[in-house]
Amino acid sequence: MKVGILTGGGDCPGLNAVIRGVVRAVHNGGGETIGLLRGWRGAIDGDHIPLTVENTDEIVSRGGTILGSSRTNPYKKPEDVQKLLETFKRLGLDALVAIGGDDTLGVANKLYNDHKLATIGCPKTIDNDLSCTDVTFGFDTSINIVVEAIERLRTTTESHQRIMVVETMGRHAGWIACESGMAVGADYILVPEQPVDVEKMCATLKARREAGKKYGIVVASEGAVLSNDEGYVTLNAKVDDFGHVSLGGVGQRLADIIDKKTGIETRFVVLGHIQRGGNPSAYDRVLGTRLGVAAGRLVINKNFGRMVALQGTNIVDVALADAVGKLKTLDPAFLKDASEFFEN
Ligand code: F6P
Repeated sequence: MKVGILTGGGDCPGLNAVIRGVVRAVHNGGGETIGLLRGWRGAIDGDHIPLTVENTDEIVSRGGTILGSSRTNPYKKPEDVQKLLETFKRLGLDALVAIGGDDTLGVANKLYNDHKLATIGCPKTIDNDLSCTDVTFGFDTSINIVVEAIERLRTTTESHQRIMVVETMGRHAGWIACESGMAVGADYILVPEQPVDVEKMCATLKARREAGKKYGIVVASEGAVLSNDEGYVTLNAKVDDFGHVSLGGVGQRLADIIDKKTGIETRFVVLGHIQRGGNPSAYDRVLGTRLGVAAGRLVINKNFGRMVALQGTNIVDVALADAVGKLKTLDPAFLKDASEFFEN
């Protein structure tokens, strides 16, 4: 059995651990593996590299993806789906493991439904916003990067008695902002799931200062929506192949508002792609490895149209169709717990 593996969408720490896991399980089951380069682009054009037990053995600790990634959507141009199917045949592939977020897995599901292509999905994103899995690998590394950055920002913020607004990634889900904000004891956390009452936030920050706290940390998710604003703030008007805008800029807007309304000197930091960079945490290496091994076993057992997932402490598989198309936004219980520290 010859199996293609690809990684699509924004990269994230842990992808190489998954690749290694799939390769090992497929080879143990008697199959062989190749890596399609740059996401669905490689599946369309046929660019690929061999993936062996030997050349993937030492990649578990490495960030990014050895296969490269892109936000290519084969369904954007109908001829690309045809090309992909031809490439699949030309390369002699029997199955495909697609490692990606909702967009990548949505394509895998569509190819399975429309063309009976033997696909398996593996959920990936630092945003932690995929359905049917309790956690996505990459998220743990990312929140630890945010926490480390904020601990560095805390000392300079305190020295200057400022407020620091830290803008995190996460797109339309507030998991990164909420969990990292909780972990650092932020003075205010802003997430996309709840419109932000700017007046109330400024009053809280001012009250803290008057009560004696000499600095403040505000963690804002890039997708947070401020009162009086029509919607989230975007970097530019461009959209990707899947119709997503580039979020960013809310941190700067907030810093400006807080500075003016509270009279407290305020700065902002956009953590950006640092949150996706570097080596994965031990948690993400283990989760990635377990998911990869499970995906490889599904392939060997010819159990297609499935997505591997973490439920509780178990690795399970669910129908790809059940997992795609609905984002798992921040559980309100998390925000409620976090809010105890700034809503009263
Ligand atoms: O989905 C992962 C993510 O990092 C989001 O948090 C962020 O909005 C987006 O990707 C950034 O994408 P790009 O790498 O294309 O700038």
